[in-house]
Amino acid sequence: VKPESVSLCPLGMTAAPEQELLCIFGTGDFGRSLGQRLLQTGYRVVYGSRRPHSCGPLPQGAQVMSHEAAAQSAGVIFLCVHRENYDFLETLVTQLKGKVLVDVSNNLKKNVYPEANAEYLQRLIPGAHVVKAFNTLSAWSLQNGPSDASRQVYLCGNSAEAKQQVVETATKLGFNVLDRGTLSAARELEDFPLQLFPEWRLPLRLAFGLTAFFFFYLLIRDVVYTYVEQDKDISFRIMVSLANKVFPIVSLIMLSLCYLPGVVAAFLQLYRGTKYKRFPDWLDRWMLCRKQLGLLALGFASLHVLYTLIIPIRYYVRFRIAESTISKIKENQTSVFDTTMAWRVDSYYAMGILGFGLYLLLGISSLPSVSNALSWREFSFIQSKLGYLTLFFCTFHTYLYGWDKFLRPSYYKWYTPPGYMLCLVVPSVVMALKLVILLPCVDRSLTRIRRGWERTDPE
Ligand code: HEM
Repeated sequence: VKPESVSLCPLGMTAAPEQELLCIFGTGDFGRSLGQRLLQTGYRVVYGSRRPHSCGPLPQGAQVMSHEAAAQSAGVIFLCVHRENYDFLETLVTQLKGKVLVDVSNNLKKNVYPEANAEYLQRLIPGAHVVKAFNTLSAWSLQNGPSDASRQVYLCGNSAEAKQQVVETATKLGFNVLDRGTLSAARELEDFPLQLFPEWRLPLRLAFGLTAFFFFYLLIRDVVYTYVEQDKDISFRIMVSLANKVFPIVSLIMLSLCYLPGVVAAFLQLYRGTKYKRFPDWLDRWMLCRKQLGLLALGFASLHVLYTLIIPIRYYVRFRIAESTISKIKENQTSVFDTTMAWRVDSYYAMGILGFGLYLLLGISSLPSVSNALSWREFSFIQSKLGYLTLFFCTFHTYLYGWDKFLRPSYYKWYTPPGYMLCLVVPSVVMALKLVILLPCVDRSLTRIRRGWERTDPE
């Protein structure tokens, strides 16, 4: 008996299975890039065009036909035309019946039309299975292959089979597919590309508002006050001295604002006696932008460190030191070494450096590549425990910097406190509240609530 044999032949010589044919309506940038990627992945591509003989350069290997013929030849049709030009599809109702119609369109602004483009398309061609997909990708990312930022394809549609076909194609193209449900989610998907750093908006506004407030506050207290009361122009101080006050002040407030919502949420849970009630919207939104708040705060702290580094080489500082040395020599005076002052200055420097070191650690561990490598326990240890330690060091740095100035009336120019005293309010409150939460009796109640226990109020 002949042994069972397997015929071996070089890979290239095996009969290639017939590749699936996909159709694209639209020969613009997006349509061309999509066609090219599909061809590279091994699909056959046919373009549907109003003028098949004069539609400009198309990827090599693609066919071009009239809309009717192209639609009839393929099961899946990518619609790469703007919503304003959908009308021509009405003449293709019969050819599109039962076909999967992939809507990739976007609008230039939100809420221009009463319904999403994909829903409008479904109404226009009720016999087709409309799937919204690929609209968050650019022609550029299609041409260059998915990079980390554009690896996701969001998709929605009413027919599960139609969606499955699109999922398979997108997966073959190298994308991760996220199914967002039925076509009613289309509007949300169409709004995605119009968003401009949405989670940065609130932190940026806050940073801008705080910077503007403290800039003008300190400008009046330092520059205007000296001009009015002492008739001296020290406006040059705006560039470095004032900036080196505004930046660390804003940084400290923003760092403490990262921890305030957590404390507020804990008190809310204690007050309500349950973890099963939703937090108010503002608290949710605040909690969601803590990472951005923290990164901006780190940026401001880094500026403070850079500004601090140049203090010794400033003309103003060198001039003051030389002048005081010369006048002491002239008057034959000596100065006594002040040990308390040395302790104070070294301590606040040390606190600042330790605070900044931990600040950097917090920033680094919030980078996705780092945080993905950490377990939840490790991540929350760094962000919570070390985070509070950072807040403590930075706050203590500022208290030590203030030292006895809190009690000296001469520092309250025009009855206003210096900026660093104002900026200590929020971090001090956050740390005091955190201490209350750490009290054993409070901590015990909170832990019980977070494990699902609910307080039942007597009727
Ligand atoms: C003030 C050094 C990190 C918050 C100062 C001053 C110095 C200094 C020299 C006095 C500036 C002046 O005389 O105008 C440092 C060093 C740091 C550091 C060497 C780390 C390498 C930080 C960090 C924070 C911070 C991480 C927290 C956000 C402040 C505040 C003031 C201050 C709020 C008072 C600003 C004012 O004059 O109103 N720091 N610091 N510092 N620092 Fe830092």
